[in-house]
Amino acid sequence: MGLKRVGILTGGGDCSGLNAVIRAITRAAVIQYGAKVIGIEGGFEGLISGHTQDLTVSRTKDILTLGGTILGTTNKGNPFEYREIDGDGRIKTTDYSDKAVETFKRLKLDCLFVVGGEGTLEIGYKFFKKGVPVVGIPKTIDNDLEKTDYTFGFQTAVQVACDAMDRLQTTGKSHDRVMILEVMGRNAGWIAIEAGIAGGAHIILIPEIEYKIENVIKKIQLRKKGGSPFSIIMIAEGAKEKGGDTIRTEEATTRLQGVEKLGGIGFYLAKQIEEKIDLEVRTTVLGHIQRGGSPNSFDRVLGTRLGSFAVDAAAKGKFGTMVALKTPDVVLVDLKDLAGKVRTVSVDSQLIACAESIGINMGRKAM
Ligand code: F6P
Repeated sequence: MGLKRVGILTGGGDCSGLNAVIRAITRAAVIQYGAKVIGIEGGFEGLISGHTQDLTVSRTKDILTLGGTILGTTNKGNPFEYREIDGDGRIKTTDYSDKAVETFKRLKLDCLFVVGGEGTLEIGYKFFKKGVPVVGIPKTIDNDLEKTDYTFGFQTAVQVACDAMDRLQTTGKSHDRVMILEVMGRNAGWIAIEAGIAGGAHIILIPEIEYKIENVIKKIQLRKKGGSPFSIIMIAEGAKEKGGDTIRTEEATTRLQGVEKLGGIGFYLAKQIEEKIDLEVRTTVLGHIQRGGSPNSFDRVLGTRLGSFAVDAAAKGKFGTMVALKTPDVVLVDLKDLAGKVRTVSVDSQLIACAESIGINMGRKAM
């Protein structure tokens, strides 16, 4: 089967590398199949509103290195449960999925490329079950998707966090301070652990391991006793104390996305440390800096490979699938095996064992 008209949308939070994927899909569809490529704007919202743009080789010319997404994105536009604020300030939910399918049909598309994380791909799978020929492409800085070694956007975010660590190392050391870096990672601590190891963290706290504050204090005290009053702590936004809860800045109900906005655990931890130990503590929250900006070379290559492979999969009629990296190859996996699943860092993993073996405190042992 060939391809005549294909659609592409980017959903959920943005990350570096989205434009590399849009470019690769456009180029492969045009060069290999002479297809017309339609960009759906604003994630699934574009399937409700019908806002689209034509994507051509020339339109995607200078976007390989560009951060963000030229199609726009949103994580509030789930057509199956579309959330809007009514006249009384209450959130009402409407099912616009049939309308979205109508738009897909009106655009006469052979295929819909859905670029997104776990939430977006789950919606993509629901559309597949409604008869839309979907191929998914895994994206998220959190790297928390099942069935793929890496998602694009992750390595760039790790590099940004690692660069921040390098800077905190020098200022923290000069002042004999405890420096805390809070990074993204709502359910999974991939960014925290990889950037923490790369940036020489002394303590790394991730959502998968509830930390004991006495273990954190112990490490700082041991370092102080050994002549290094300075310590550097990497903490994921979704980390929590044993028996405690995640720190949120807003309730779910106030966000149209329907998910809680996390943030603040770094400041909470700073207060806990200051109460127990006579050292100055400073917190930096890295936030969306991890998501913006130019993708690193790894993410440019991964995004290009995934995009190109997705076009071939669509041409072969392999729908209801996601392209995935199984090093060294890109392969196809079933969307149904992914829906609603989050891949976290296993507490028994080699990665955590490696960190602890070189003396990094993961919050679960006094060391
Ligand atoms: O899912 C990716 C992510 O970066 C999470 O780590 C973080 O909690 C979330 O996005 C933040 O999303 P928003 O930009 O909607 O606040």
